[in-house]
Amino acid sequence: MTTERIALIPGDGIGREVVPAALAVLEAVGRRHGIAFTYDEFDWSCERYLTEGAMMPADGLDRIRGHDAIFLGAVGAPGVPDHVSLWGLLIPIRRQFQQYVNLRPIRVFDGLDSPVRGAVAGEVDFVVVRENVEGEYSEIGGRMSRGFPDELAVQEAVFTRAGVTRLVDFGLDLAERRRSYGAAAASPRDGYVTSATKSNGIVHTMPFWDEIVAERTALRPAIRWDQEHIDALSAKLVLDPARFDVIVASNLFGDILSDLAAAVAGGIGIAPAANLNPARDFPSMFEPVHGSAPDIAGRGIANPIGAIWTAAMMLDHLGHLEAAAEVENAIAAVLAAREVRTPDLGGTATTTSFTQAVLDAVEAR
Ligand code: NAD
Ligand code: IPM
Ligand code: MN
Repeated sequence: MTTERIALIPGDGIGREVVPAALAVLEAVGRRHGIAFTYDEFDWSCERYLTEGAMMPADGLDRIRGHDAIFLGAVGAPGVPDHVSLWGLLIPIRRQFQQYVNLRPIRVFDGLDSPVRGAVAGEVDFVVVRENVEGEYSEIGGRMSRGFPDELAVQEAVFTRAGVTRLVDFGLDLAERRRSYGAAAASPRDGYVTSATKSNGIVHTMPFWDEIVAERTALRPAIRWDQEHIDALSAKLVLDPARFDVIVASNLFGDILSDLAAAVAGGIGIAPAANLNPARDFPSMFEPVHGSAPDIAGRGIANPIGAIWTAAMMLDHLGHLEAAAEVENAIAAVLAAREVRTPDLGGTATTTSFTQAVLDAVEAR
């Protein structure tokens, strides 16, 4: 029996509704594979901020530093400015624990109709490799002349050679591992890397990004790759999503592309994410792509697929590859049966009843 010690941060809104769904599936699959989970639960959230003045305690990061992984629902609530909830919890965890890759896979499942014509199950299956600790998300800058006619806001994007290099290398490694590549590629899509850029408009950072991508890919002649401007790339993701395999992107571009890609696959509620510390000197953090969805929170109708798939990514990261595949297959089986769906996907299931269907699919294997 392996024991995995997980730091659990349900957070706010539907974060608290989808986390129990993911835990139920982890429990079921863990039982079958000899994996025990122990959870330390933290109430770090906007509610905590409103009563105690901080999203997490001053020694918060020390309390979760020793865990095998962190599982987070989502944070953000009306009444607390987003920059408070995010810079008080989510972003410090990503940065302090050097989770410099945000891995966001997308696939069109059989039985889940994509809003995009021609996006077919089995064909659309790619991953966004998002830079997660630098880039456009920076604290450098400021607001000046508040309340005056010449008021302004400035924000500096920070791209480092080391930061871009390690992110791009991760994407290239993934392209070599994910499917066949190079001469052995089974299709033109396999092993194909796309770099999201905007060097036609952003003069300093993006040409620098492009240069590093070109240098790193030159070291791997078997990898086929291209760069696309983020605006055109956004259109191509909708018009021809099946041509992508690995997309490497800066922090902000990757953020936007991942919600767009989730929508191509059926909806924001299905997309998973892993904030990875590839060196494994700190815990990695697993959280669905979506946020706390205040518009549907408290109604028990949040789609738990993103959180459950995220749990599968955590299993994979912890080395439980079979268990991870079993969870992903169970999601696929429920969707392929075309019966149970939450309202965002046009059905009437609740978070709990959808999760029960996934649990049944796990047990049916
Ligand atoms: P959101 O992802 O919370 O919601 C966008 C839309 O998608 C909403 O209409 C919502 O109802 C729907 N949606 C999202 N997840 C769903 C699910 N699982 N099932 C069904 N429908 C779902 O994004 P937002 O509205 O931009 O942000 C709301 C709050 O969440 C903000 O405070 C934001 O800062 C925060 N946020 C947090 C995280 C995080 O903690 N990781 C991520 C994104 C946004
Ligand atoms: C995400 C979210 C966050 C991000 C926000 C809430 C800061 O949108 O995880 O995709 O932009 O990274
Ligand atoms: Mn986002």
